[in-house]
Amino acid sequence: MNTASSNRLCLITGANSGIGQVTARELARQGMDIIMVCRNGQKGEQARQEIMAASRTKKVDLLLCDLSDFLSVRKLAEEVNRRYDHLDVLINNAGLIAGKYSASPQGVETTFATNHLGPFLLTNLLLGLLRKGREPRVVSVSSEAHRFARFDLDDLVAPKKFSPIRAYGNSKLANILFASELARQVSAGGITSNSLHPGAVKTSFGADNNGVFALLFGLARPLMLTAEQGAETTVFLASSPEVNGKTGLYFDRKKPKTPNADARSDYFAKELWEMSRRITRL
Ligand SMILES: NC(=O)c1ccc[n+]([C@@H]2O[C@H](COP(=O)([O-])OP(=O)(O)OC[C@H]3O[C@@H](n4cnc5c(N)ncnc54)[C@H](OP(=O)(O)O)[C@@H]3O)[C@@H](O)[C@H]2O)c1
Repeated sequence: MNTASSNRLCLITGANSGIGQVTARELARQGMDIIMVCRNGQKGEQARQEIMAASRTKKVDLLLCDLSDFLSVRKLAEEVNRRYDHLDVLINNAGLIAGKYSASPQGVETTFATNHLGPFLLTNLLLGLLRKGREPRVVSVSSEAHRFARFDLDDLVAPKKFSPIRAYGNSKLANILFASELARQVSAGGITSNSLHPGAVKTSFGADNNGVFALLFGLARPLMLTAEQGAETTVFLASSPEVNGKTGLYFDRKKPKTPNADARSDYFAKELWEMSRRITRL
């Protein structure tokens, strides 16, 4: 892909499905060049065709990565740094709720590895490119489910007793803490960092789960937002001039919202950052 383009360049994870796919399509329609990051080449290529059809610039790249695997994240970051000379927008969108306990290749509980540690590592490895971007923005897709968190820093990597909703809530709380700590750390470089709740959205999210979560999600489905509606706040934070210079905030329906007390804790934000740095060997 031509890196000398004057279009804005956006990298988005989980761009083959749900909120991520619609976000990528909308930003491509607005005229951004897109780097889609997906873990499955076939699903990624199918989505790329659809995003390409909507794209104004016809620049839609596809790179593969399993965000739960630090080696895969490092390979992705190397490839992005090799192919591109700047990045304007990074959207950490990919995420899952694991129905039962499993561990990543490095032995970290999968939800925490995929939803927090992978994006933490990727973002840090792309900061150099972001610093060369124009009005660079990092957008982290969190959730109101952060309110279900019981945050114990010693119990995130290998929880003693696994609960899907607790693990997911903890990871989404981590997204808000990460976004606000990143905002503090990179403010001098002009990069902004915000997080958001997309709403309760009808996607394939949690489709392979059973138990209470699947039951509640199934019952709520008729009342849930479409993926198009669910992508609105992400698209807004990635592209609207209204949020120029706004940083360290959590948004819901395109408006800043106060997350819970743990998500506003400087202690948690700093400790989580240090812990994530150690585990990912940043
Ligand atoms: N849907 C909701 O109601 C809701 C509410 C609040 C927050 N969210 C958040 O919104 C974000 C997008 O979710 P969605 O609803 O659009 O769900 P989705 O349709 O299931 O999309 C999730 C995306 O993440 C990707 N992904 C999962 N694990 C990955 C990994 N290890 N490496 C790379 N990519 C991975 C998936 O890839 P595959 O297709 O290969 O699995 C998929 O592209 C998530 O962060 C979720 O936590 C969703």
